[in-house]
Amino acid sequence: MKLLVTGGAGFIGSNFILYWMKEHPQDVIVNFDKLTYAGNLENLKEVEKNPKYSFVQGDICDPVSVDKAMKEVDVVVHFAAETHVDRSITGPAVFVMTNVVGTQVLLDAAVKNAVKRFHHVSTDEVFGSLELTDTSKFSERTNYSPRSPYSASKAGSDHLVRSYFTTYGLPITITNCSNNFGPYMFPEKLIALAITNVLEDKKIPIYGDGLYVRDWLYVEDHARAIDAVLQKGKVGETYLVGGMTDLIPNVEIAKKILKILGKDESNIEFVKDRPGHDRKYDVDWSKIKRELGWEPEHGFDEYLEKTVEWYKTHEQWWKRVKSGEYEDYYKKQYES
Ligand code: NAD
Ligand code: DAU
Repeated sequence: MKLLVTGGAGFIGSNFILYWMKEHPQDVIVNFDKLTYAGNLENLKEVEKNPKYSFVQGDICDPVSVDKAMKEVDVVVHFAAETHVDRSITGPAVFVMTNVVGTQVLLDAAVKNAVKRFHHVSTDEVFGSLELTDTSKFSERTNYSPRSPYSASKAGSDHLVRSYFTTYGLPITITNCSNNFGPYMFPEKLIALAITNVLEDKKIPIYGDGLYVRDWLYVEDHARAIDAVLQKGKVGETYLVGGMTDLIPNVEIAKKILKILGKDESNIEFVKDRPGHDRKYDVDWSKIKRELGWEPEHGFDEYLEKTVEWYKTHEQWWKRVKSGEYEDYYKKQYES
């Protein structure tokens, strides 16, 4: 089988490729990635010489290179996107271009080349925000209610993917998952930012009152969930994917990281809030468990310790990532 993975040099895409090549060594993988600030081929060092793996630098908004890359592809796994909510607030245009237009360009090429499956990786943020007091969770039946330019652009992409199923019969599946964490997580996002800041003797910036809640999914569990959907999922269906997380406020996550690293809570700094900050996400992943037998392998605390350990042993990786463009971004985001 030949897979085209878009955005395979990013956080989740690179973890997915590493996972897939271990679990399905007979398959051929083409990684199609523009290499924006978030793309990093270092993540894929251990497979770069494998003859079953190849890399194409290209933009999903460019129909010519997308069509070329789609030749003889059986399955598309579409991760490529602009993904950081804070960046979507300061510069929404590229989010619409990549996430909406780029997805539509890929869908056209998938129809033209008659791919057997187009799997779209999306987010629980399309469902909007829960109140802290809500006992309900997001499910496959929840209405869309995106509240940031990022989540609005992902919602647009989800609608397009479904429309290509009903209109053109393209065999699609969609997963909407919660906040991923684990190796190669880009340190602009909370857990990686917090761990690397502590390792650098810097404070952890916590937005607003710190009581915002996310559902946390370990990235390898996510890769296994996509695998389950590709092997056993029903065409045209959507599956929600989440972690084994009690509802933990952001400030408690910061405290857990500080405790693992032997530092005290004075290393937390409350900073100005994110505009339109979604209060809570909570994901009901009972459909994928019931229908496909998937569930997370471990709980949040075990995975958090494992993630901290990974950052401790991969200092070169994150120090390189945190230099250059990242330094300018950090100054604008946290020091203005
Ligand atoms: P990321 O930001 O780490 O990586 C995105 C990758 O896409 C990068 O390698 C980048 O170079 C590439 N890319 C960006 N624009 C491109 C373009 N125009 N053409 C080709 N490649 C391009 O993202 P991530 O965190 O790994 O997220 C992957 C997918 O999962 C996204 O679709 C995101 O919406 C979704 N998702 C992420 C999370 C999360 O917690 N990170 C949670 C739910 C869903
Ligand atoms: O829910 C899935 C989504 O999770 C993905 O679709 C997005 O691509 C991904 O970026 C992530 O979005 P969030 O906005 O939830 O993730 P982030 O890591 O940016 O923030 C997590 C929480 O931590 C959120 O409540 C904001 C808060 N936060 C974040 C940063 C970067 C802070 O308190 N301080 C920070 O410095």
